[in-house]
Amino acid sequence: MSSAERLWYRVDAYFTDRLRPPDRALTEAIKDGAALPQIQVSELQAGLLSVLARSVRARRVLEIGTLFGYSTIHLARALGDDGDLVSLEFSEEHARVAQTNIERAGLADKVQIRVGPALDSLPDLAGGEPFDLVFIDADKENNPGYLEWALKLTRPGSLIIVDNVVRSGDIADTTSDRGDLVGTRTMVDAVAEGIQDGRLDATAMQTVGAKGYDGLLLAYVR
Ligand code: SAH
Ligand code: DHB
Ligand code: MG
Repeated sequence: MSSAERLWYRVDAYFTDRLRPPDRALTEAIKDGAALPQIQVSELQAGLLSVLARSVRARRVLEIGTLFGYSTIHLARALGDDGDLVSLEFSEEHARVAQTNIERAGLADKVQIRVGPALDSLPDLAGGEPFDLVFIDADKENNPGYLEWALKLTRPGSLIIVDNVVRSGDIADTTSDRGDLVGTRTMVDAVAEGIQDGRLDATAMQTVGAKGYDGLLLAYVR
């Protein structure tokens, strides 16, 4: 770890200790998820999702990429009593661990996990009530398709959040043909088009911390 990274970790720990009190459901979720990829949002990033969900008074949330349900728990807790969250997950194993974690957090009545490739599940969500917030955090190659669906399934006033848009700065290498970068770049171009024609207001935030150097794209549906 470089000295800069050590500092990011220390600062992350400083704020996490003070602003994000742990609880049993989260601690157990991390324990149960330990055998799965450790690519969940950091606790401070989870806090950002929570603050944003509360700020837009989200009642309906769509998440693409559940893993073991860490971001899911934070988002579901930020909804009102009548809120609901649909989370799409490719892996049966991930979904099983997430379901246990969500039940332990007392959120089973609010959260529905749909197992399978997200692009297969998304058409089934059309025709329902629009989502107030969409969190895109699955395979980055499919980010263009996920954004397209997010635009279809939201309403003016909704918020679309895309995780991992910086990838240690690799996104700035606009000639790279790496699948995740091509997917993210194509998604960013679609957001740019949405800004051009007045459908979206958007920004991207670079982040450092316990997850290294990455970033989020935030788009507001006008
Ligand atoms: N949002 C989670 C992390 C998600 S990690 C959190 O922050 O806590 C990305 C997840 O997307 C993994 O669980 C992976 O299995 C899932 N995934 C990958 N490809 C997918 C696809 N095509 N459809 C749905 N989920 C997919
Ligand atoms: C990866 C995916 C994520 O959603 C994340 O937050 C970090 C890393 C990955 O696929 O490498
Ligand atoms: Mg992510």
